[in-house]
Amino acid sequence: MAEASTELDIEHPDALLAYLRAAGQIGPAETPTIRNLAGGVSNRTVLVERASGEGWVLKQALAKLRVKVDWFSDPARIHREAAGLRWLEKLAPPGTITPLVFEDHTHHLLAMQAVPMPHDNLKTLLLAGAPPRATLLDYAGQFGRLLGVVHRTARERQSEVEPVFTDRGFFESLRVEPYYEYTAAQVAAESPEGAAFLRGLVAKTRARTLTLVHGDYSPKNVLVREGRLILLDHEVIHWGDPAFDVGFALTHLLSKARHLVPRRADMGDAARAFWGAYREALGPAPWAGDIKAMAVMHTLGCLLARVAGRSPLEYLDEPARASQRTAVLALMTSPHGPPASVERLIALFPEQQ
Ligand SMILES: Nc1ncnc2c1ncn2[C@@H]1O[C@H](COP(=O)(O)OP(=O)(O)O)[C@@H](O)[C@H]1O
Ligand SMILES: [Mg+2]
Repeated sequence: MAEASTELDIEHPDALLAYLRAAGQIGPAETPTIRNLAGGVSNRTVLVERASGEGWVLKQALAKLRVKVDWFSDPARIHREAAGLRWLEKLAPPGTITPLVFEDHTHHLLAMQAVPMPHDNLKTLLLAGAPPRATLLDYAGQFGRLLGVVHRTARERQSEVEPVFTDRGFFESLRVEPYYEYTAAQVAAESPEGAAFLRGLVAKTRARTLTLVHGDYSPKNVLVREGRLILLDHEVIHWGDPAFDVGFALTHLLSKARHLVPRRADMGDAARAFWGAYREALGPAPWAGDIKAMAVMHTLGCLLARVAGRSPLEYLDEPARASQRTAVLALMTSPHGPPASVERLIALFPEQQ
């Protein structure tokens, strides 16, 4: 009995209903509406709407990710996400984090409050070219401020926060290896200097234990409700190098600046708005000086990883990926060194050959 119950698959509504009742999370006769949510690759996510009007999203980590190649990760990472939800609610700006409802260590799942409808996914909005310029810049500013506030407030509470998030195992297996190390191996023959750049970046990243790092800070993990941003998906959260989040986020804005040509100027300005708001919210952090150089390096690293690594941007076709690869390698290995500032990188990358 106990063994069978550990095999609960929350995407099976009857099994989920029985589980919620047996666990006492809902009344024994209560029948909520249950709907599987699409989109994620590493988790099952299910919306549960109760008669009371309360909505939960249940999330259960998959051992095998839903990608083309075999990719495995310990489902216990859902408990890192639960810890992330608990702490981010205290650290991030009010209303930007969905409260945790419950966590279950037996079935490796959690429940958080659902973001009510209507809402939009920020990546979907950006790819559709939807937000008018002023709205786009507002969202980009919120996106930067949210990150800067988390990086600053986590460091202010370092003695409490760091011990919870010291383990970097998921960051290593879900980011360092598939993004940087795998990409270094992919480009080594064509560009030994590019591979050396990435390997150097890995060493620097590992040496930097400065504050709380989200690790998946992408528009795909942001919902927009009534004009306000809400951050999701915290399973790669760890104590480490904040510049990784900046580079990961800027990669999405800059890839779109390069490839969504009609929106190039607006997306470039969105990247500037993100970076400006981030630094303002970060304030005089102890690493505020070298965040600039590290942010350039991580942005270049992620821009390359998203076209040559294990997790390529799905909205780019082969020629677009090849063009981005050539452009990033040219910037990484320029005889004058990489761009001297984030502003310079934002100016150069969208047009770089
Ligand atoms: N609290 C929530 N409220 C509403 N929708 C959510 C919530 N959590 C997740 N989702 C939906 O499920 C999708 C996948 O969730 P996410 O946490 O990003 O999982 P994954 O790790 O699989 O990417 C999100 O893009 C979003 O559409
Ligand atoms: Mg996600």
